[in-house]
Amino acid sequence: MKALTLFSSLALPLLGEACLLPEELLDAVPAPHMVLPRQTGNTGLGVGQGDRFDGGSVVPRGPGSQEHGTDMGLLLNVKEIHSAVRALVDEYGIEYFEAPDKTYDGNPIFGARAGGTPGCASSYHVYFNAAIHARERGSADNIVYFMADLLYANKHNTGLRYGGRTYSNCDVRRALATGIVFTPLANPDGVAWDQETNTCWRKNRNATSAIEGNPASVGVDLNRNFDFLYDYIEKFHPDVGPSLASQNPAAQTFQGLSAFSEAESRAIRWVMDTHPSLGWYMDIHSYTGVLLYAWGSDENQIRKPYMNFMNSTYDNVRGLLPDDPDAGDVYGEYIPSRDWADKVYAAERSKLAMHAATGRYYDAYPAALLYPTSGASDDYAYARHFVDPGLSKIHGYCLEFGFGNSQVRSCPFYPSPQQYHQHLLETASGFMEFLLAASEIGLGPEGTC
Ligand SMILES: *[C@@H]1O[C@H](CO)[C@@H](O)[C@H](O)[C@H]1NC(C)=O
Ligand SMILES: *[C@@H]1O[C@H](CO)[C@@H](O)[C@H](O)[C@H]1NC(C)=O
Ligand SMILES: [Zn+2]
Repeated sequence: MKALTLFSSLALPLLGEACLLPEELLDAVPAPHMVLPRQTGNTGLGVGQGDRFDGGSVVPRGPGSQEHGTDMGLLLNVKEIHSAVRALVDEYGIEYFEAPDKTYDGNPIFGARAGGTPGCASSYHVYFNAAIHARERGSADNIVYFMADLLYANKHNTGLRYGGRTYSNCDVRRALATGIVFTPLANPDGVAWDQETNTCWRKNRNATSAIEGNPASVGVDLNRNFDFLYDYIEKFHPDVGPSLASQNPAAQTFQGLSAFSEAESRAIRWVMDTHPSLGWYMDIHSYTGVLLYAWGSDENQIRKPYMNFMNSTYDNVRGLLPDDPDAGDVYGEYIPSRDWADKVYAAERSKLAMHAATGRYYDAYPAALLYPTSGASDDYAYARHFVDPGLSKIHGYCLEFGFGNSQVRSCPFYPSPQQYHQHLLETASGFMEFLLAASEIGLGPEGTC
């Protein structure tokens, strides 16, 4: 019933007002229903064919800085994602980078950073990663258009509107000042393949472990390739479900031959290594309508610091939920209570902002409650500081935007036109709130440049 309070006010917040407090989120109204003309084929919204940003000479604008209901068109193709970032770099003077290693198909993993001090890596505190799972269409679009909005609003002294949620120019400046690093296309080979073939492709395209005559055996699940409880057979209870990870190359969750065997996961680690003051990380996935936070290995617990992913005493008992002492399962992943509270605060605010944008209710809970995973990037981000206290503590999140498209039976990850727009509004609103919450809670260590 609490959600109904969202609908109680008809007064639209005005652009240009002071920064909103979290409580004021509840005064937002849901977005009016949008009517979009484009037809849904049997693969959902189509993928753009040309290059709408003309190699970087046309600057992208997100939905939040345009009239509400603006048709954002087709999904961004891989070329457009790159051109869009190049255009943001040129228009707003932000910094572009490419990770050292190329992918199996020879593509760079590129990104940009905005809002910090140019040339000063330690002035960046928030990292958004997108499209690690190829078929989760719109993931890259969400972050590209959000950054386009944020930079536009900052330069032109305006606020932003996402459906029923508005942000003032003060919010915009505060959000951007967190220092944002983003890699919008973490799996360029997989996305290119998925866009060409409409095969609901999840993994990358590394064919090293592929089995002759089995096309599904190409590729590694990049979000099982990080160095967090990677050796799942040793580190987890044998009864934990198949989403954990797999050693079968034909499985959707094939973990690869070793942790960080893949150029794409190494690129994400490299971004973390080269930005020593990161405090927040969000990996953008679909779908489930939930914002997940650490841990993804087992239920969180705050009383036993020694009961954690580094303690091999608990190998073979990790990952069973719910914990059942009678069955001999007493494992919970340690999280300092303050960290847990901080994670929940940022997640709850982001989730409410997403709800306020379109009226759709998002959940927020620790990742293991969805299903336990080994080798995921959000756990890796947060684990780094526990393994090496000299590294900054990075709060790890995984956003599962949207609720799936039941019209596309073969691949519910492919959004309809309507859903694509909803996702853009919801995620942007959630990203804004996430940045504002992070800036309130604390951004991580101050760097010196
Ligand atoms: C492909 O997989 C092999 C085996 O795991 C690995 O050594 C190699 O680095 C991968 N290639 C790329 C480009 O990531
Ligand atoms: C690992 O857990 C065991 C059992 O609780 C405990 O005795 C031991 O001290 C822990 N090891 C570390 C390094 O915390
Ligand atoms: Zn995913």
